Amino acid sequence: MARIPEDKIDEVRLSANIVHYISQFVNLKKAGRNFKGLCPFHTEKTPSFVVSPEKQIYHCFGCGKGGNVFSFIMEYEKLPFFEAVQKAADFAGIVLPKEEYKPEKKDYFQKLYRINEIACSHFEENLAKAKNKRWLKYFLDRGLSEETIRAFRLGYAEESNNPLTRLLEKQGEDLQEAAKLGLIQQRDNRKAYFDKFRHRVIFPFFNVQGKIVGFGGRKLREEQQPKYLNSPESPIYYKGKTLYGLHKAIPAIRNKNYVLLVEGYFDLLRLYESGIRNVVASSGTALSDDQAKLMRRYTSAVYIAFDGDEAGIKAALRSAQIVEKFDLDAFIIPLPAGEDPDSFVAENGADEFEKLIGNRMQPLEFEMDRFFANNADAPLQVQEKFINDILDGLAEMSNQIKAAMYIHQLADRFRISESLLVEQLNKVKRSKRRFRKPPPSSTADETTGEARPEAPVRPEKRIVVQSGVYKAEAGVIYLLLNGDREIRHFLLEHIEHQHFENDAFIRIYEHIMHELEEEGAIEADKVISHFQEDAEVTQILSEMMLSDETPSIKYARDCLFQLQKWQLEKRSREISQLLREEQSSPESAMHYTRELSNIRKEINKLEKEHRSHQLL
Ligand code: CTP
Ligand code: MN
Repeated sequence: MARIPEDKIDEVRLSANIVHYISQFVNLKKAGRNFKGLCPFHTEKTPSFVVSPEKQIYHCFGCGKGGNVFSFIMEYEKLPFFEAVQKAADFAGIVLPKEEYKPEKKDYFQKLYRINEIACSHFEENLAKAKNKRWLKYFLDRGLSEETIRAFRLGYAEESNNPLTRLLEKQGEDLQEAAKLGLIQQRDNRKAYFDKFRHRVIFPFFNVQGKIVGFGGRKLREEQQPKYLNSPESPIYYKGKTLYGLHKAIPAIRNKNYVLLVEGYFDLLRLYESGIRNVVASSGTALSDDQAKLMRRYTSAVYIAFDGDEAGIKAALRSAQIVEKFDLDAFIIPLPAGEDPDSFVAENGADEFEKLIGNRMQPLEFEMDRFFANNADAPLQVQEKFINDILDGLAEMSNQIKAAMYIHQLADRFRISESLLVEQLNKVKRSKRRFRKPPPSSTADETTGEARPEAPVRPEKRIVVQSGVYKAEAGVIYLLLNGDREIRHFLLEHIEHQHFENDAFIRIYEHIMHELEEEGAIEADKVISHFQEDAEVTQILSEMMLSDETPSIKYARDCLFQLQKWQLEKRSREISQLLREEQSSPESAMHYTRELSNIRKEINKLEKEHRSHQLL
């Protein structure tokens, strides 16, 4: 599909009048500055669906759906983004350029993708050659069908010196760029290039759009080094932001509602072949934060099936920790020692693997079993170290309900008082907080572990804390988007990342900061475009943009005050909770009481300041 240039998309958005567009489907009546009608996304008798001609957005105050004209088309006509743009363009009478329009940067990326594409086809063709049938057989012997080989575009790089180099040259491609992509290399003191991948079977890496960003090549002879040669990072390949196989796995992940995380290319391919398709591979490295976030776009649970050896287990537990940090549920799938999913399925079949999936364990449970199996009568220090390591992980966890559950299990297995563990955990947290930005927050109240009240029925909205703090967060975003320079400056001076409780607001806030840093300005409706594929955020933004509030410094101060006060109160609740625990020692009780009174003082001070500002 031809890419549509960014500014053309903006032009379409500005020209396709949303009121006219929606009027094709909904009977809209003028109501003040806006139009109102019966919401097409849920059944209602009184209209709560609002369309703003000024802001060119819609929002339903009943079901929460909202966004710009593209969101509407995507949602109502069930179309992907680019087709929605096409549709809106047709409506507005704008002709979208096809190929000829290519801004510099895009052009450059196109060039890199094109080089990778040439290389990929070349490797595929090699695999199809009669003289290389031995290497096709290699894949077949490893249990892959020709269909799977085609689906993942597996290939073979021949033994010779420079066939790919010559091909690229013949096609007039820029060899320097091909070298940047790690496909070819110049010999130290000579100009001539040679191919990097030689005598290896090839696994292309795809991004979620299905474009090739890099390659992995497995050795075929014992003495070759390394076992797997992988493309270096490049302008189109960020290792920590890519997961092997994701582009093919997305529908299955959505369908099964979990993703299976494996280590190796062959693990993934073997499972795919056996019909288990919600799989991605971390490619042998430790899971990165970005990879966890990438999975979170599609699901809320990650099942980890790594090698059954010591290194595999360690890597699995570390990955579980990262997964849980981002409020995804993590499970460990225990494999027999010496097996990986590929070898296990080869020996036992997919049904047995499904059984292993059924036996998945919570990471903590898994870890405790392992601990007690290896340290039957562990001395106290060893137990203590184990517990402290666990608490260290729990301190990073964003889901406090789950952390509380883990504490409970830990207390149970080690026969220690739960409150002692809570106290210890809070200590760890406090010391961490001094050094780090907080992890993304969740719906759970940090102190009580209870979920905060949800907003009224809002389908598809994951995280909504409809409370004072939610309104204040929304207010800050609203003001950043709609306020003048003075208001923006005031907020940027006072607001910190930590002030936000809701994940969606953090995402918006981060994007705004990014835009301000990169562009020096923000356009409110462009922000919606940026979050086009994130229904939760577009809904929040559309609601916010329809607010009647007049931006003012006073309003900004109010929001800031609410957020600061909330943080102090939260801390105070946390401490009161600790105090209520019977087990806290007299010293710590005294310490907490003092801290509590300090917080009270700070809140009073804050309130006083706020009142004095209001009098001005
Ligand atoms: N890996 C890598 N570079 C290496 C070794 C491993 O990138 N030098 C990555 C590959 O993605 C590999 C995964 O780590 O698939 C797991 O490594 P390993 O267990 O050694 O390989 P397998 O995938 O099991 O490959 P095979 O079954 O062919 O031995
Ligand atoms: Mn293997």
